[in-house]
Amino acid sequence: MSLMVKTQNLRKSFRRADGSTVEAVKGVDLEIETGEIFSLLGPNGAGKTTTISMISGLLEPSGGDAWIGGHSISKDPIAAKKLMGFIPQEIALYPELSARQNLSFFGKMYGMGGKDLKSRVDEVLEFIDLVDRQNDRIDTFSGGMKRRVNIGVGLLHRPQLVYMDEPTVGIDPQSRRRILDTVKQLRDEYKITILYTTHLMEEAQELSDRVAIIDHGSVIANGTQDELTQHVGEEDRLEIVLGSQVVGDELLRRIESQIPGITKALYAPAEQISEDSDKIKPAVLTAFARNGQTALPPLINLLDGAGLEIQAVEIREPDLEAVFLALTGRALRD
Ligand SMILES: Nc1ncnc2c1ncn2[C@@H]1O[C@H](COP(=O)(O)OP(=O)(O)O)[C@@H](O)[C@H]1O
Ligand SMILES: [Mg+2]
Repeated sequence: MSLMVKTQNLRKSFRRADGSTVEAVKGVDLEIETGEIFSLLGPNGAGKTTTISMISGLLEPSGGDAWIGGHSISKDPIAAKKLMGFIPQEIALYPELSARQNLSFFGKMYGMGGKDLKSRVDEVLEFIDLVDRQNDRIDTFSGGMKRRVNIGVGLLHRPQLVYMDEPTVGIDPQSRRRILDTVKQLRDEYKITILYTTHLMEEAQELSDRVAIIDHGSVIANGTQDELTQHVGEEDRLEIVLGSQVVGDELLRRIESQIPGITKALYAPAEQISEDSDKIKPAVLTAFARNGQTALPPLINLLDGAGLEIQAVEIREPDLEAVFLALTGRALRD
C-alpha cells in the first residue's frame, strides 16, 4: 500500500478577539492509504474542519506539515493540490447560474477549457445524476441536489484524493443515503481516496476502511474499525434511558462493584439540544459488560431499587460510539 496523505505533528492555534488563543489542532499524525475511505470522526468543535483545511492547503498550519502523494502542502502546494478535490462543508455555488454553468465556471477556475471541459462536465453531471436538471438554476434545487453539485465541482479536475467535510449535515435522509452511496462509488469504481469527516458514528461505521477519532484537537484512536473496537474489548454496551433523572457517582460505583460482568458505568445527564429549542436529550446511563443479556436484569433491579424510572433499554455490540465513550467518558452523538 502506498500513502496518499501523511501528516506529521499538524497544529493550529487561533487567536480569539479577546486576545486568548484556542489550540484547535494539537499535533495530529495521520496516514491515509491510497484507495481507502478514511474518516475523521469527532464531535462538533473537535478540530475536523481545521485539520482538513490544513491538509488541503486552505489554512496555514501553526506547526507540522502534510504531504499529499509525497508533496509537502507547505513547500510544494501546487503539486499537492493537483491531486486533490475539496468538497467544503458550506455549499459554494452561484444560485442564479444553472448546474451546468456552475460546473463550467469552476472548471475554468481549475484551468480547464474547451472540449475537455465540456465532456468532463457531461461526465460529472452523469455521475451526480443531474443530467435532467443541468440547465435549471441552482436556487430551484433542493438541499440534497445542491450538495451533489458541490460534490461535482470537487471532482471536475479528476482528483485522486477527495476531501469531504461533513457532506450530509442538514439534508434529508434520502439525500444523505445518496451521498453515502456516492462516496463508496468514488472509492470502488473510480479508485479515489477519500478523507471524510463526520460527527456521526453511523456514517463512519458504514463508510470507513480506517477511522481516526478526534477530540479536543487530538487524535485519541486510529485504525480499522475492528482495531478500534478491540480497544474497548469485546464488551457489550447497555444503554439505559432515564429521562431527566440524575445519577450520582456513588450509584455508578455501586453498579460496577455489585453487578457481575459490569466493568464500567457512566452517566450523561439530560441536555437541551440547542438554545433555540426546548427539545431535551434524555439522561443516559451506560454500562459496559462482557455479556449484556446476563448483566441487564440485575442492573434493572438495582436501578429500580434506587428509585429510578427506566424509559428505555438497549444492548449494543462494540462500535465506534463505545470506543469514544470508553476513551472520553462522554457520548459522541449530538
Ligand atoms: N477561525 C477561527 N478562529 C477562532 N477559533 C476557531 C476558528 N476556526 C475554528 N475555531 C475553533 O477551533 C476549534 C475546532 O473547530 P473546527 O475545526 O471547526 O471543529 P469541527 O470541524 O470538528 O467541528 C473549535 O473550538 C472552534 O471554535
Ligand atoms: Mg467542521
